[in-house]
Amino acid sequence: MTDPTPAADMTYARYLDLDRLLAAQNPISDEHDEMLFVIIHQTKELWLKQILHEVALAQSLVRAGDLVPAYKSLARVSRIQAVMTQSWDILATMTPADYLRFRGVLGSSSGFQSDQFRRLETMLGLKDAKFLSFQLDRPEAHAALSEALAAPSLYDDALAQLAAAGIAVPAEALNRDVSQPYEPSEGVEAAWLEVYRDTERWWPFYQLAEKLVDLDDALLTWRHKHVVTVERIIGRRRGTGGTDGVAYLSSTLDRRCFPELWSLRTRL
Ligand code: HEM
Repeated sequence: MTDPTPAADMTYARYLDLDRLLAAQNPISDEHDEMLFVIIHQTKELWLKQILHEVALAQSLVRAGDLVPAYKSLARVSRIQAVMTQSWDILATMTPADYLRFRGVLGSSSGFQSDQFRRLETMLGLKDAKFLSFQLDRPEAHAALSEALAAPSLYDDALAQLAAAGIAVPAEALNRDVSQPYEPSEGVEAAWLEVYRDTERWWPFYQLAEKLVDLDDALLTWRHKHVVTVERIIGRRRGTGGTDGVAYLSSTLDRRCFPELWSLRTRL
């Protein structure tokens, strides 16, 4: 454990590395609202950093079969997601006219290229190697995303725990190539149905499943608010990252990290 005795010259600013942190907001234009645009994106990257830290802990606990301690990290992630969703309302105070005054300086940069956002999606189970191509100029980000793509997702680990507890999980799901996108199956849905049909017996899994649904739900709520805010600010224009904008973002609302936890609700 690290020595908790503080350095004699420790100050608030040194502890938080404030001089470097506050030197990192560098709008390119002279437009007033560009500062907000930079800070909203930077705070989102900071929150993503904390979320990744929590998901990594939760995943190692689930993998070790310690389901109950994992709930704490997962609950914290949901609360952070709620704050991220709320922050769209701050950004929406920027009108289309305000944004168009500096949009040109963004070039082809876009949140689409956020390696931390892709790492989060990947760790939760949405695997897509095409996003590696946006990190070719950033070796550490590239390596971290590659590592997440090659590793089991949180969902893969949850399914392995279901099997270890004696619930029938199809071998194809347990032995799948974890670097590939997850394919939902009726067999996995049946495994979760067993949990939801006898919640008293399977309480720790039932709790885990609902915590996972909290995360998926909050991610969808964030995505939805992004689409609405984007339409409010740029209408149906194309995105700076090259997609067709709102139409592309709307299509991401179909993504589910834990698909059988949604589909089982129809069958209960
Ligand atoms: C004026 C404000 C914004 C506009 C007009 C906008 C627009 C877009 C568009 C059109 C895309 C699709 C990719 C592209 O063609 O560029 C996108 C993707 C994305 N944006 Fe934004 N965005 C805005 C603000 C933000 C903010 C504040 C965040 C984070 C806090 C963010 C995070 C993302 C992420 C993570 C993606 C990838 C989504 C996915 O592929 O699932 N965006 N944005």
